[in-house]
Amino acid sequence: MTISVIGCRTEYLENPLGLDVLHPRLFWKLESEASATAQTAYQVLVAATQEGLDQDIGDMWDSGKRETSHSTHIVYEGAALQAESTYYWKVRVWDEQHVISAWSEPALWSMGILARTGWKAKWIGRKAEADLKMQPSPFFRKDFTLRSKVKRAVVYATALGLYNLRVNGEKVGDLFTPGWTDYDQRVQVQAYDVTDKVTQGDNAFGVILGEGWYAGTVGFISDKIYGERPFLFLQMSVEYEDGTKERIITDGSWKTTRGPIQYSDMILGEKYDATQELPGWDRAGYDDSGWELPDIRPGYNGLLVASMEPPIRITKTMRPLSLRKTEAGTYIYDMGQNMVGWSEVKVKGERGTQITLSHAEMLNTDGSMYLDNLRVAVQQEHYILKGAGEERYEPHFTFHGFRYVELIGYPGEPDLDTIVGKVIHSDTSVSGSLETSDPMVNQLYSNITWGQRGNFLSVPTDCPQRDERLGWTGDAQIFARTASYNMDVSRFFNKFMWDMIDAQQPSGAFTDVAPDAGWMRYKMWSTRLDWFAPDNAGWGDAGVVIPWTLYLMYGDIRVLETHYDAMVRWVEYLESMTDELVRPDYANYGDWLSIGADTPNDVLATAYFAYSTKLLASISEVLGKAADQKRFETLFAGITEAFRAAFVAADGRIQGNTQTVYVLALQFGLLTPDQQTLAVQHLVEDIKARGNRLSTGFLGVGYLLPVLSDHGQLDVAYSLLTQEEFPSWMYSIKHGATTIWERWDGWTEENGFQTPDMNSFNHYSLGSVGEWMFRYMAGLETDPQQPGFKHSIIRPQPGGKITSVKAGYESLYGSLRVEWKLAADGEFRLTVHIPANTTATVYVPGSGARVEGEVAGNALAKPILAVETEVQAASAFHIGSGTYSFTSRIQ
Ligand code: BGC
Repeated sequence: MTISVIGCRTEYLENPLGLDVLHPRLFWKLESEASATAQTAYQVLVAATQEGLDQDIGDMWDSGKRETSHSTHIVYEGAALQAESTYYWKVRVWDEQHVISAWSEPALWSMGILARTGWKAKWIGRKAEADLKMQPSPFFRKDFTLRSKVKRAVVYATALGLYNLRVNGEKVGDLFTPGWTDYDQRVQVQAYDVTDKVTQGDNAFGVILGEGWYAGTVGFISDKIYGERPFLFLQMSVEYEDGTKERIITDGSWKTTRGPIQYSDMILGEKYDATQELPGWDRAGYDDSGWELPDIRPGYNGLLVASMEPPIRITKTMRPLSLRKTEAGTYIYDMGQNMVGWSEVKVKGERGTQITLSHAEMLNTDGSMYLDNLRVAVQQEHYILKGAGEERYEPHFTFHGFRYVELIGYPGEPDLDTIVGKVIHSDTSVSGSLETSDPMVNQLYSNITWGQRGNFLSVPTDCPQRDERLGWTGDAQIFARTASYNMDVSRFFNKFMWDMIDAQQPSGAFTDVAPDAGWMRYKMWSTRLDWFAPDNAGWGDAGVVIPWTLYLMYGDIRVLETHYDAMVRWVEYLESMTDELVRPDYANYGDWLSIGADTPNDVLATAYFAYSTKLLASISEVLGKAADQKRFETLFAGITEAFRAAFVAADGRIQGNTQTVYVLALQFGLLTPDQQTLAVQHLVEDIKARGNRLSTGFLGVGYLLPVLSDHGQLDVAYSLLTQEEFPSWMYSIKHGATTIWERWDGWTEENGFQTPDMNSFNHYSLGSVGEWMFRYMAGLETDPQQPGFKHSIIRPQPGGKITSVKAGYESLYGSLRVEWKLAADGEFRLTVHIPANTTATVYVPGSGARVEGEVAGNALAKPILAVETEVQAASAFHIGSGTYSFTSRIQ
């Protein structure tokens, strides 16, 4: 049997360019036809040239044979890496039979600019046009000549604002670059290899700038949070075949003007006048004598860092399902899916004709567009035709949350082919899949993933349609685990941690939104919205929950090390704000959007204080900080005592008596065993008294089903999952939801739409039930002792009316799959697949569990490492990699 190495990655990425990490981490996967395959050692070679690597010379790093089964997060330990150099690497492994694999396919990474002094470009901009509230998007261009044959050309580009780069007329890069950070602290730089886009001789750069988060509208209280107008920064390093080098940079010699984009604002839409287009502007030799010189922005002191986030891209194109002409003569399209992005339109007509595309999530009962929930956002594009045959248009620096598109002023009769929807988001590849025997549960899962698709845009935003779209930390933490099953969010959340760190207050408080969006810095929260504080329970805690989630799902220890001090400061801050370890108020949002069940602020705040402390104790343990571990364990024990003394009555009732108080106390381990029993009773009582319905808001909902399942109430968990009466997940689905709604009562039969002041139909928080679907219903769980699915705990928990589940997860080691079926006669069949170099403990529920088929008889594979029977109404099989089928009887 042979073992091979595949999927080599550096810093989670395939052949990344322009890194600035001095000790990048390497990852690979193993592939083998045999079961129970494991790596026992590896050897990595890193070379400064491809030729060197081909000759097996690791001139940068030859790790030698390292005896370990680790194949992820292998830290580069070779010679010092040089700025702007490319490194080539490969790896081979030994298996348990001492068989050596072949070398992997070569992989590479390149370093970017590593020192501040390496940045030579200038920030260039275009002066604002007087008297215009909405500014046109500035165009920039530069002709340049390359004197001989180019060996390698790399562009480093960024903006205070957004840039759209073109090299010799060809678009380079992704959308909404450089992404959103607190630009006063750090700005991400993207690196592009443009070797095959430039030529010896004449070339040109063309760049359009958008205001973006930097100077455009952000959130609901401001625009121009970071600066007045956008600036561009670009630097190209050219290496000629003859060994000489050259640099092309943004400076005062570039040219700028206004173009067809009259304005383009993320929240206020775009106006594009095609009669103002500048044909050929982005190619060499264009006559730019009428253009202006740019102005140069002095004094930018933020940090330029290599791009940390996954690129934002168009990941799907959607065709409308139907089209209807309104009495007003406009046309309303139904895309069939609440989505995020924009629509592209095809149109033919007279020069100067203006058409408008308007976007909404819902329709009013009279069939008109429901725009009230957008608040001041304008989800519209206006396009003025140039009158040159068929024209196609899509916007540049704006996006919308919508299912319906209204086409206004269209010349002629549009049809279903006139528009398409473009879905955009941070391109985090899909890692999870889930399908059950229940179509409504499948729709719920689809809604959860669409919520993520629609809201993970540079940062985890709360909603995509109204004037908000902020990185609410509470939403992010409660959904983080679900998100990481659905998609590969390793880099996305690593980047978001920096946003949280940049926003962290001197006091140690983590903020409610990150990036800060000006609230704390400009004290907007205190002068304009007094109820915003920096440190709300369940929000600021994201600063600990998210790194812990990255550790669990990816085994990322570096994120824990890097942010350890910040996490300690958070917990110390919380402690300093307590009265004998009870945290008085600090939960201004309560259990946000709970339904008829207000959880007292002090109960919430104390519970979350305990949780952050408990996680920090585990983090200290992972990092081998024994004294800290002891300290935080002791603190946690103290908080639980204080919690019990302050809030738990003799009959086990917890103050507030809401589902959420019991859920949090059970989930965070705040109760004595007796109190646990009582809490479960009170919780179940409350659910039953409501007719098997939930009342939890953002904070309680994520743990509701897990807590019930952990405490012998699986049937209650399933009944909540599939409940169709209000309030429930299925209620929204029964009424056509294709995404998760912000509130349980966003629309009800009784009252129609909730207040338009806050009624998004695309908020992912209540979708945090996805975590339970993977961890409990499918039973795909990682082991905190061997995180990142190095060792998995496969424990499907069938129940309710669901008779089959099929789930998959792409881990850093490869694919995991769980498939179960429960027949009417009680026969339970389970198939499990786990990737090479991992092990799992499979808990087969029911009685008489056994392994099926050839694997059982295959002596060579030795797949079953051990079997334990009757472990919590299941039999536990310890398996090596491979595919296994089990049967048992349930009931
Ligand atoms: C946001 C939520 C957020 C909440 C906190 C809302 O406006 O949409 O997602 O968590 O505010 O108050």
